[in-house]
Amino acid sequence: MLKKFDTPSKIISNEQIATNHFLLRCKCPKIAAQSKPGQFIHVLIDEGSNLLLRRPFTIYSVKDDEISMLYQIIGKGTKILSTCQQGQQINVLGPLGNCFDLSIEPDPAIVVGGGAGIASLMLLATALRVNGIRLIAMIGSMSSDRLLSVKDLEEIGAEIHITTDDGSFGNQGFVTDSLLAVLEKPTKNGLRNPIIFTCGPSGMLQAVTEIVVDHEIPCQVAMENEMGCALGVCLGCVCKVRLPNAGFEFQRVCSEGPVFNAEDIIW
Ligand SMILES: Cc1cc2nc3c(=O)[nH]c(=O)nc-3n(C[C@H](O)[C@H](O)[C@H](O)COP(=O)(O)OP(=O)(O)OC[C@H]3O[C@@H](n4cnc5c(N)ncnc54)[C@H](O)[C@@H]3O)c2cc1C
Ligand code: FES
Repeated sequence: MLKKFDTPSKIISNEQIATNHFLLRCKCPKIAAQSKPGQFIHVLIDEGSNLLLRRPFTIYSVKDDEISMLYQIIGKGTKILSTCQQGQQINVLGPLGNCFDLSIEPDPAIVVGGGAGIASLMLLATALRVNGIRLIAMIGSMSSDRLLSVKDLEEIGAEIHITTDDGSFGNQGFVTDSLLAVLEKPTKNGLRNPIIFTCGPSGMLQAVTEIVVDHEIPCQVAMENEMGCALGVCLGCVCKVRLPNAGFEFQRVCSEGPVFNAEDIIW
């Protein structure tokens, strides 16, 4: 079993990168050395915050002894986090959860991220490109001012498809429209052995699942349920998972997940 570390960590930078979204870099050598694509950290926002519970965030990037997380301001915890300054300390527990399964080589890998969901796919995207795997990235956001990760994906050589709800950048519509378009009219080298990796709001993930089931394409989904302990104890994070014998069971997103086969999830 892989080790988990609970380490005090100094913030290196915490920059706003889009409306309501921040990229936080911190020094976590032990976590950086062990992190795999899809895994997450559980962050305790320290002194003066009065927050009892940690908050979970996927590891966005790893560079030497640094990790980063890209987060959206949602409520109290992320609001406080966004005010944290360089040099301030947070407590980081991780790396947690399972990771994306790359035992079968995709050609191409298609990452589909809705809103901040693309944050959970970036470390995976980077690993895929390091291994020379063709990557198609579909990014959906409400509007151009909330678009995330475009530059990072360009830098690693992804074929990028952008949709915005209001049409202020890329094609107007949902990220699932891009997905359907590529599946039905593939560009360049076609789809030899496509595998889809997705993360985003629940409604979007359900729509992606319907598409992949229709097209019989394997799809791994990173779930982002509310969490308490993130250590498999409180059962606060469970989701309903289909079993091969036609039954189902509740599985813990923090321990059995966060990555599941999309068609196994009972939404
Ligand atoms: C594995 C994982 C990875 C994630 N990765 C990212 C990421 O990379 N980027 C990103 O932007 N977001 C990510 N999220 C979502 C992110 O964790 C939440 O947006 C964040 O916790 C919101 O915190 P908040 O205090 O701002 O919001 P609030 O809504 O104010 O508070 C959330 C807190 O309340 C608790 N809570 C609220 N409702 C319930 C409930 N019904 N039952 C139990 N507890 C409850 C939660 O456990 C949590 O501690 C991820 C979530 C998970 C599970
Ligand atoms: S968050 Fe406690 S069991 Fe998953």
